[in-house]
Amino acid sequence: MSAKIIDGKSIASELLDNIKEEISTRAKEGHRAPTLVVILIGENPASKIYVGRKIMACEKTGIKSVTHNLNENVTEKELLTLITICNKDITIDGILVQSPLPSHISEEKIIEAIDPKKDVDGFTPHNIGLLAIKTPSLRSCTPYGVIKMLNSLKINLEGMDAVVIGQSNHVGRPMFLELLLAKCTVTICHSRTKNIQEKVSQADIIVSAVGVPNFIKGLWVKHGAIVIDIGITRLDNNKIVGDVEFDVAKERAAFITPVPGGVGPMTVATLMENTLIAQKLF
Ligand code: GUN
Repeated sequence: MSAKIIDGKSIASELLDNIKEEISTRAKEGHRAPTLVVILIGENPASKIYVGRKIMACEKTGIKSVTHNLNENVTEKELLTLITICNKDITIDGILVQSPLPSHISEEKIIEAIDPKKDVDGFTPHNIGLLAIKTPSLRSCTPYGVIKMLNSLKINLEGMDAVVIGQSNHVGRPMFLELLLAKCTVTICHSRTKNIQEKVSQADIIVSAVGVPNFIKGLWVKHGAIVIDIGITRLDNNKIVGDVEFDVAKERAAFITPVPGGVGPMTVATLMENTLIAQKLF
């Protein structure tokens, strides 16, 4: 059996169309365009590409974007001051600080400085906590994007055995919480986990967020499983690949996401939705 390849691009595009329509309806009711502030620090080429995609999605949906391109040498204090200004500005709905940050800046401090009601990345302790106690508000874009993708395919996650590989604050941990909220039985694997192969091979749904090409061997995938690949690596030959040995895995899975064109576009579309939700929170 060959898997259905999940077309994240087209699911995301439909979501963007719906957001555009809602923003246009709200405009007729007198609401201003939702506004997203994007803060990019330094010259990281991957960050520039990601931020470019987010700004393009703003343009597509009618969200106003304001970008601050800050020098690599910006101080933590200067960045905190900018965030405070954005927190107080009632014409700004969402604040996104693109990571990674330069090593002299504490990511933890920066995230904690963002008003949770403007935290469109869903990274603040407040928003992660709300998800943990089953009352989510602004939800982390990649994990929530995965859930929205599965919902759009009418996949019922209740009771499934899920395995998440990767325990990062931005992806692995909120992904664990999202799958738990969807009533899966969730196992999370990390660098100290014993026998990852055994755990992966029992999973009904595998979500990998490691960033190591071919980390998940195709033969580990149970027949009929759902495979979600969040990993993204650019190889020396410029090819973009995920964590999963795709060609082998796709012959065993029921559903599988490609890289690129799978989860990535859902992250961006969910960020747009969060910006609209954030506007409605005030
Ligand atoms: N860096 C890579 N992905 C992301 C993301 O989704 N949000 C932010 N703020 N930084 C990132």
